[in-house]
Amino acid sequence: MNYHSIMPLSDLPEGSHRTVKSGDRSIALFHYEGAVTALGHACQHMGGDLGEGSVQRLEDGELYVVCPWHGWQYNLKSGQAPSGFQDRQAVYGVQIEDGMILVSDEPLVNAFRAAHEDDPLADLRNLDYKVTPSSLNVLGISTTNMNRDLPRPSTSETALQAALDFAVSEFGASARTIRIRDLDFRHCEGYYSRHERACTWPCSISEMDPEDGMTEIYRAMVLWADAVILATPIRWGNASSLYYKMAERLNTVQNQITLDDRVLIRNKVASFIVTGGQDNVQGVVGQLNSFFTDLGFTFPPFNFVGWSRGWIAEDTEHNYQRFFRSRYVKRSIRELVNNTLKLVMQIKQMDVTGLQTPKPKISEAGTLTEPEADS
Ligand code: FES
Repeated sequence: MNYHSIMPLSDLPEGSHRTVKSGDRSIALFHYEGAVTALGHACQHMGGDLGEGSVQRLEDGELYVVCPWHGWQYNLKSGQAPSGFQDRQAVYGVQIEDGMILVSDEPLVNAFRAAHEDDPLADLRNLDYKVTPSSLNVLGISTTNMNRDLPRPSTSETALQAALDFAVSEFGASARTIRIRDLDFRHCEGYYSRHERACTWPCSISEMDPEDGMTEIYRAMVLWADAVILATPIRWGNASSLYYKMAERLNTVQNQITLDDRVLIRNKVASFIVTGGQDNVQGVVGQLNSFFTDLGFTFPPFNFVGWSRGWIAEDTEHNYQRFFRSRYVKRSIRELVNNTLKLVMQIKQMDVTGLQTPKPKISEAGTLTEPEADS
């Protein structure tokens, strides 16, 4: 086994670590408690750079590097994950000669990625779809928020229920409602901002905590639903804050397209119910359409029911009554369901294997010195 000179020891002071090149490999070097150690730099989970991680002492008294992407840990000397986990980073030999750090060209201990049995997210990981050529699974997502102990009438949620009831009675659909306010789930913690591949499928947060409430949304929306009808109130001209909390966590779905042209949402239809005492139905629907098309959903024509009474309608106590006395509302909910489910039945006949994903990719950005791309 050969050793390559990497860098002066003085460039890696006690208490520091960094990733360096050794031939065509990248190695994470650590200098702690008088010892220099070297591990493979790419985390066994999703490739996070351990040279950018933090070093912590765990309960066993040993020092571990904590991956900066999702927190997997590896012993600085053995490369081993903490007790209870089998995963291991490659460990390279280190010699110090004439003030220089030398690293072996081959690992002394090979990396090991354990098969994680009893994977609670296996159905998501394997995309175990529940839709069939004849299924009509309609997922209603209610994003309105309210006090559970003191519920108030909700135009958006009651309209959503009316839509689902109609889907069942008229089309024989299977319907399911998820009220976002009933789910206990973490905010998106921005792993994508760390690195595009740190935003994983299944979501990094669900991997860390399979009980996180968004796991239910992923299963229902990606694996089960043929159609999604999302209902939101208008809050200061926008969809509800709970909608945005959910949407941020759906970055994991959209990111699969950006990273690998992997479209998880295929042949699914989305439509919306947007209600507010005051204004901006069009603005909210525009945002919803933009986001849902980026996820891969298809829309029927006229894919929303909107309701608002205008800027000066401060008599909010009358809004609910007026909403349900409106013949427009009753008719348009039924028509929305008609359009949505008829499109589901039609697109199930379509071959989408050639579906294109005209998404931006940084690798295609070009440089100032490259010739212009063909038009
Ligand atoms: S914990 Fe290292 S890449 Fe996820």
